[in-house]
Amino acid sequence: MAPDPAAPSALRVRPATAADLPCIARIYNEGIRSGRATFETRERSPGELSAWLERPQHPVLVAERGGNAGGWTVVGWIAAAPYRPRACYGGVAEFSVYVGAEARGRGVGSALMAAFVRACEDAGLWKLVARVFVDNAASRALLYRHGFREVGVYEKHAQLRGVWRDVVIVERLLGRNLS
Ligand SMILES: CC(C)(COP(=O)(O)OP(=O)(O)OC[C@H]1O[C@@H](n2cnc3c(N)ncnc32)[C@H](O)[C@@H]1OP(=O)(O)O)[C@@H](O)C(=O)NCCC(=O)NCCS
Repeated sequence: MAPDPAAPSALRVRPATAADLPCIARIYNEGIRSGRATFETRERSPGELSAWLERPQHPVLVAERGGNAGGWTVVGWIAAAPYRPRACYGGVAEFSVYVGAEARGRGVGSALMAAFVRACEDAGLWKLVARVFVDNAASRALLYRHGFREVGVYEKHAQLRGVWRDVVIVERLLGRNLS
């Protein structure tokens, strides 16, 4: 469906496809280079991320903005990943969420998270967990807004660029799958 020309900032969220991998990698690599989002330092090629799309229990969504020319541009993504290999943790997923620098602070992360929580419930997951740098104010605000609980802080969890970093552990129960 073409975006409404009267709403140039139209936003939609949908499941990711293989065609989105170059955009997903570009946005991820921007976050990796920033040194503010993740301990990862190795940039990823689109092909390296294709395995993300092969796990039905772990949703991957993209957010697209409708441009004035009528096309849609991927401006952010959110992806679940297995928490631990042990069977007892099968309903627990970790996740990452990245919005392109030019699109931040305008509700994209929030739209992704709202759709993601629903998709994860539909996939049968019962808990989402993540670790966030303590000084990542945007991520902590996003998570708080969407009902995540800050469990505690792992001190000096790992080094990034030679500096020990603390991370906040967060969790959110997905109630529908806990009865
Ligand atoms: C974290 C991130 C995904 C948030 O996405 P976003 O589209 O900028 O966030 P939104 O505009 O939807 O805002 C979500 C909430 O965070 C708040 N927020 C956004 N940026 C903020 C900032 N820099 N400081 C404080 N709060 C901020 C918003 O006010 C909003 O809260 P509210 O609903 O209570 O008003 C985005 O900043 C990002 O991609 N950062 C780099 C990658 C990263 O750090 N990912 C998380 C690690 S996995």
